[in-house]
Amino acid sequence: MKDDIKTLERECAKAIQEARTPAALDEVEIAYFGRKGKLTTMLRKVRDLPEKDRPIIGNVANKAKKELEKRLSERRAILEVEGVSFDDEWVDVTEPGRRPPEGHLHLVTHAIREITSIFEKIGFTRVRYPEVDWDWYAFEALNMPPDHPARDEWETFFIDAPSSKKGKMVLTPHTSNAQVREMERGELPIRMISLGKTYRRQSDVTHVPMFHQFEGLYVDKNVSIAHLRGVLDYFVKSFFGPDRMVRIRPFHFRFTEPSFEIDVSCGVCGGIGKTAEGEKCRVCKRGWMELGGAGMVHPNVLKAGGVDPSVYSGLAFGWGVERTYMMKEGMQLDDIRLLYKNDVRFLKQF
Ligand code: DAH
Repeated sequence: MKDDIKTLERECAKAIQEARTPAALDEVEIAYFGRKGKLTTMLRKVRDLPEKDRPIIGNVANKAKKELEKRLSERRAILEVEGVSFDDEWVDVTEPGRRPPEGHLHLVTHAIREITSIFEKIGFTRVRYPEVDWDWYAFEALNMPPDHPARDEWETFFIDAPSSKKGKMVLTPHTSNAQVREMERGELPIRMISLGKTYRRQSDVTHVPMFHQFEGLYVDKNVSIAHLRGVLDYFVKSFFGPDRMVRIRPFHFRFTEPSFEIDVSCGVCGGIGKTAEGEKCRVCKRGWMELGGAGMVHPNVLKAGGVDPSVYSGLAFGWGVERTYMMKEGMQLDDIRLLYKNDVRFLKQF
């Protein structure tokens, strides 16, 4: 009888292992564990054995039953997850795997990296300064005393926090706060590119409340407008292409004197402002596109940073990353807010 039990156990274990679907496993269960099942019948027979044989055989039978129940439930768990078993299917382990979907860096991150590496080549180091900073660094040290009307240009978010000697806290409305912070480190000459987030109270098709700027600052003895032109030319040709030109126009900023706005010749019409057919260029309309501000650092700003303006002079510039990148790509977004909507259908294109 012991042998019969062993044989039955082996047979049942094999049937469990060979069941390919949960339904097939149900059938095996009924065939062995059901009321008229083979195992049930066998166990019933044990009860009819003479009393002296019962404990030993009974023990063997119970162990077999427990073992089979365990296998049954393990097999069921596997089949329910896999649906099907591939135990005896052939697998080619040399076959290349399926690639998981692969993303890429955001276009603004690409732009930041590219801009940084262009400036690194002429000795500028990327630095970062707070994106929540004191009024002093964002305005006052930049030659904009409290209540100065020029501040209106920067539609600033103020932080609801206690003020200090350095005034209120603001979400930096431009990266120019980096200028005096860098000077305060007390190491001259300075060749920095500060790149970070900036915030203004604005949101429409051409504005986002958070965008990025990069701020260049070069302070040394005898820095002149010629250096400024040189740096601008170098950047524009490296970033936009060798045939693009720079134009500087007089402008006004409180923190530079003289101040300029920088234009780049349009990549579509080549700076002419007209198409070959004589129509106005669709992208620039007049041959040039505005990049951002620049100038020679105002003596008051140098003083605020502890730098002696009678010995040192400096040049500075500050531009928007998103805008600069879009100008490069000749990209015209109907709504600039798309950049930050995280819509993969849009982002995938870059
Ligand atoms: N901070 C200015 C802005 O956000 C841009 C700017 C103009 C930065 C002139 C400069 C500069 O460094 O010299 O509009």
